[in-house]
Amino acid sequence: MAPVSVSWIFRVQGFCIGSAGRSFPKGPERQDEMPGLETAPFLRHFPGMSDTSNPNFDPNPPRRNFYGRRHGKTLRQSQKGYLSEDLGDLRPRGITVQDNPGRNPIVPQAIFGDDRPLWLEVGFGGGEHMVHMAARYPDIGIIGCEPFINGVAMLLGKIRAAGVSNVSVHPGDARDLMDVLPDASIERAFLMYPDPWPKARHHRRRFVTPEHLLPLARVMKAGGIFRVASDIPDYIRQTREEVPPAGFEAIGDTDQPWEDWISTRYEQKALREGRAPHYVTFRRL
Ligand SMILES: C[S@@+](CC[C@H](N)C(=O)[O-])C[C@H]1O[C@@H](n2cnc3c(N)ncnc32)[C@H](O)[C@@H]1O
Repeated sequence: MAPVSVSWIFRVQGFCIGSAGRSFPKGPERQDEMPGLETAPFLRHFPGMSDTSNPNFDPNPPRRNFYGRRHGKTLRQSQKGYLSEDLGDLRPRGITVQDNPGRNPIVPQAIFGDDRPLWLEVGFGGGEHMVHMAARYPDIGIIGCEPFINGVAMLLGKIRAAGVSNVSVHPGDARDLMDVLPDASIERAFLMYPDPWPKARHHRRRFVTPEHLLPLARVMKAGGIFRVASDIPDYIRQTREEVPPAGFEAIGDTDQPWEDWISTRYEQKALREGRAPHYVTFRRL
């Protein structure tokens, strides 16, 4: 009998819980981030698990193919506290399949309780850019998506320290949020140092592909602004090629950061390693 990969078994059961087979990238940029199969954290996901003192805690069990990592080092006690005490109130409702099995559109005004402009950050990492923007623009509401739970915990610590109240946190895949956002509900979107996926055969996993860009275009208002920062020239190439056909026009393409920019953790890493940041700005048509 032919060998059967674990990922195949999960897909056959109709529950895509991430790539548990051999399809993890082995490129040097991700090697430190890829769990071995025997320790793969997503094997410990169980629906309904919500006790943050449980080491298997996952506030948002995955449902679609996601190739990045969801867990890193063991969380500190303080971080577990942020997750159990703060995340519940900061999460937008109706995003996950568990919360919204019918995938009905949510009411965006319910997120912050009013009709303030909504911004979206995809993959906020440790949250420095999101908290900075929230503090700088107190009249908007910013929704961040990040499946990496250690990043979510870092963000929650920064929210406490900064005392900002205009941040909403989806601890999961941006696609799940975009599925249920109504048309034209987002005024600005940020994609800061997205996962580079340097191997040609992995380029279709990049965020700047129609799978992600078409839903993003749908949820953005006409005239809305989409910012992309990356230190990977080939990522910038693909961004220039793939974002406009999804319904955007390029209005900036430079090595000079935006005037309200704060350098993120990944940008700092890129600079230490001698790579040059690049910043591209689009307007939704
Ligand atoms: C290279 S890190 C950059 C983090 C941060 N923006 C920074 O500049 O420091 C990319 C982040 O995007 C997140 N990510 C990847 N795919 C995502 C998706 N579909 N939805 C939300 N976040 C995603 C990853 O978990 C990772 O934390």
